[in-house]
Amino acid sequence: MPGRIIRVFRFCLWVVLGAAVPAAAISVPGGAAQNAVARGAYLFAAAGCAGCHTRVKPKGRPLAGGRRLDTPFGAFYPPNITPDPGHGIGRWELADFIRAMRQGRGPDGTLYFPAFLYPSYSGISDADLGDLWAFLRTVPAVAVTGPGHDLDFPFNLRVLVWPWRWLYFEPGVWRPDPNRSARWNRGAYLVRAVGHCGECHTPRSLLGGVDPDRELGGNPKGPEGKRVANITPHRKKGIGDWSESDIASYLLDGGLPDGDLASGAMVEVIEDSTSRLTESDRRAIARYLKSVPPQDGN
Ligand code: HEC
Ligand code: HEC
Repeated sequence: MPGRIIRVFRFCLWVVLGAAVPAAAISVPGGAAQNAVARGAYLFAAAGCAGCHTRVKPKGRPLAGGRRLDTPFGAFYPPNITPDPGHGIGRWELADFIRAMRQGRGPDGTLYFPAFLYPSYSGISDADLGDLWAFLRTVPAVAVTGPGHDLDFPFNLRVLVWPWRWLYFEPGVWRPDPNRSARWNRGAYLVRAVGHCGECHTPRSLLGGVDPDRELGGNPKGPEGKRVANITPHRKKGIGDWSESDIASYLLDGGLPDGDLASGAMVEVIEDSTSRLTESDRRAIARYLKSVPPQDGN
């Protein structure tokens, strides 16, 4: 019973602190009666697209161009991805969208900077990309162009994306592991492809590639140069003493097992993405996190 009271208290605190009420779970994915747009809306939340493509201060129109993303290479301004034909991606076809997400290339062959997280999104299935596309078509078109990226030389040279891709990028749909349960596979897909958890939680090399041998092992320099926690099952450095329920509950309301609350970049991830997932998907993520090799970093 005290546990429940603490939980309710924590939840109230969360709401008072201005975080979203996590009750807005968007309907269950996959049901036959559901249409592509609803499934796409769910994936859109799970993938956190709005977080980058919508300006926060001052509040911008949805997906009309994003907030400034400061990185060691300079500042990126995510573009307008509303269906406006001149300023957004209104002239695109589904195939263009799939190429952008899976291959990191624009319709004219532009090589995208990996700040658009296609190294992760590449794993999203064709069916899910189709649903995501159906949803994106329903967002109101907005006729504005954001500022271009403001990158330091030589990172402003798109040709440099070539060697980067050669070193770090392997396009391809994420494939389930037939030796694992459906829940594990769902969790792995959500963590690695859709939810792109490793983009923040896995350490990177000097050139900004995530290190596959230290998956989720914590990142000393994440967004805004801040430390990002190790979320592998390492007992001391990671979250080895969290149960699956602890993880699922953190992803719902940001409450840590010790009663503390999430802070930093994770607040927005919880608010915009993980709190909006179904309980079953949060559990799947927890199942997968408990299974990755423990890392002793960070
Ligand atoms: C971490 C920030 C971030 C997230 C999250 C993100 N994007 Fe982007 N996105 C970018 C940046 C930066 C670019 C510009 C890349 C470039 O100029 O090379 C971009 C470019 C794009 C483009 C190409 C637009 C054009 O005009 O060529 C599309 C389409 C796109 N993003 C869709 C999405 C979708 C859909 C999601 C969610 C599944 C998403 N993005 C999530 C940062 C992000
Ligand atoms: C935009 C960057 C970012 C993304 C994406 C992200 N996280 Fe986090 N995460 C953080 C930061 C920063 C912290 C540390 C928060 C704190 O100190 O309270 C954190 C903390 C956590 C913690 C708590 C760890 C602890 O010891 O307190 C868990 C669990 C977690 N994240 C899981 C996930 C999962 C699962 C995903 C993918 C669905 C994810 N995160 C995606 C930035 C991110």
